[in-house]
Amino acid sequence: MEVIPCQTKQEASRMAARFMLNQVANNKYSVLGLATGGTPLLLYEEFIKMVSSKDVDLESITTFNLDEYVGLAPNHKASYSFYMNKHFFEPLGLNEDQCFVPNGVAHDIPKECERYEDLILEKGPIDLQVLGIGRDGHIGFNEPGSSLVSSTRIKTLTEETQKDNAQFFDSNESVPKHVITMGIRTILSAKRIVLLAFGEAKADAVAKMVEGPVSASLPASVLQMHSSVKVIVDEGAASKLNKLDYYKEVFANKPTWQRKEFL
Ligand code: GLP
Repeated sequence: MEVIPCQTKQEASRMAARFMLNQVANNKYSVLGLATGGTPLLLYEEFIKMVSSKDVDLESITTFNLDEYVGLAPNHKASYSFYMNKHFFEPLGLNEDQCFVPNGVAHDIPKECERYEDLILEKGPIDLQVLGIGRDGHIGFNEPGSSLVSSTRIKTLTEETQKDNAQFFDSNESVPKHVITMGIRTILSAKRIVLLAFGEAKADAVAKMVEGPVSASLPASVLQMHSSVKVIVDEGAASKLNKLDYYKEVFANKPTWQRKEFL
């Protein structure tokens, strides 16, 4: 894991956006794995700005979202389909047939999970997967206790996650209990992963993910088993890392040829 400590979430998001821009500029057939929630909003904003100023061709990219709420149709304002249309797909002029989000209102949910997993296998592998992290260490919606070799499936949200996500709904009660999420094996099959975390509320989860044992009790810790993960954090989210000074030193002393991926 490469931990990249930034001062602010703006700085961190710009760095992740440059990383994503390099991916699509170097391979116009890139497959991107995308996340939702509050964390990647600035990254998407920055990426959209960079794409329009550099005139990058996105016609042939494919995107897969991590998850969706069961029971929410794409026109529901709190659905992840709605979020992605608003913050990413529409501003970039991407077509429907390039962008995939699990269908939360599918009649047969297990079948939909299988279809989604097969689609990733068919069109993938995902070149670059963007991740956030929950306060309980979830990635996608893989809550603590998730199988570390899981594929796309239905999960039940913990009370903590339901509360955290209630800000996007009219009331606590309207947050769906069930979700469809890419599994942990699905996420690990991406070639490269960038995880963003901002604010002190994420500091515990980040420290355990990076420096704790690999455990299903903190699903993000499994990223220690992936060969290409960048963890880009602001000061708050980095505040409980024991080896923070070392991560700073590593980044500050990167050889020039390694810096190219961030330019
Ligand atoms: C949500 C999403 C995750 C996200 C996480 C953190 O439940 N399913 O993909 O990373 O929780 O959310 P936020 O970025 O709003 O803190």
